[in-house]
Amino acid sequence: MELTPSSSTFQKMLAAARGSGLGVGLVPTMGALHAGHISLIERAREECDAVAVSLFVNPLQFGPAEDFDAYPRDLERDAEKAAQAGADCLFAPAAAEMFPDGPPATTVRVEALSSILEGAARPTHFEGVCTVVTKLLSLSGHCRAYFGEKDYQQLVIVRRLVADLSIDVVIVACPIVREPDGLALSSRNARLTPAEREVAPVLYRALSVGAEALSTGADGETAMGSVLATEPLVDADYAVVRDAETLGEPREGASLRLLVAARFGSVRLIDNLGVAGVETRSLS
Ligand code: PAJ
Repeated sequence: MELTPSSSTFQKMLAAARGSGLGVGLVPTMGALHAGHISLIERAREECDAVAVSLFVNPLQFGPAEDFDAYPRDLERDAEKAAQAGADCLFAPAAAEMFPDGPPATTVRVEALSSILEGAARPTHFEGVCTVVTKLLSLSGHCRAYFGEKDYQQLVIVRRLVADLSIDVVIVACPIVREPDGLALSSRNARLTPAEREVAPVLYRALSVGAEALSTGADGETAMGSVLATEPLVDADYAVVRDAETLGEPREGASLRLLVAARFGSVRLIDNLGVAGVETRSLS
């Protein structure tokens, strides 16, 4: 695996791969690689001839009170994991390489989707994500880019940005990798206390009970709320049922997505689950 901190080297490597007829896959990450990230790299390995992983802890997507400085960084370990999972190239730029003049003058914001749900709690987050993802996709050129359903709103927003700006990239959505007790893998799980870790699977339980309620015509949001309310250590932020494609109010017959966010002490976790379309009358 080739490791490079240089955006021009990364750009040239992918252009050369495409020039020799290879299909390119890109897996954007912020490092601290776990089995969720690895599943994306392995999927790219199965579907593409050349696989690039990017590793950049993007300062633009952290709010002032968030954990940018504390975000786990271990390039050596991540490089080993990415190579083992089948990456051919790891692009790991410094902040000065990506944004040499500090925060860029040009930013990308998917307005309609960036203030709801996660955006309500983190007002500048998705603009930071979109700006860096646009830059990564523009460096990589035509490819398949792999994103996890774990960050479902991010996935919907990235799809929208690629469509709106006619970016020549195919976005591939990958399923959530979970612990055996249902907790979705996240680098933040390591910051839970043992007591918080024990109750954290309540998020997945709430989603499952919500999906079950929808399938019987009951109210999914009420069902999720009741499950979350059973755990005193959990401070629920939202537990909602949305249209899977638009994240708006569900349209008749549309596929649905149940989404939850909650604080466990100082750690905020998110999770979500998809269900096939049900009749809208079941949702009220
Ligand atoms: P990061 O949090 O490192 O996640 C990188 C990718 O891994 C994302 O697409 C995320 O959805 C996926 N992922 C994380 N946990 C997962 C799990 N348990 N199962 C499946 N996939 C999982 O998301 C980002 O970085 C950044 O916002 C980024 C897109 C790189 C832009 O900076």
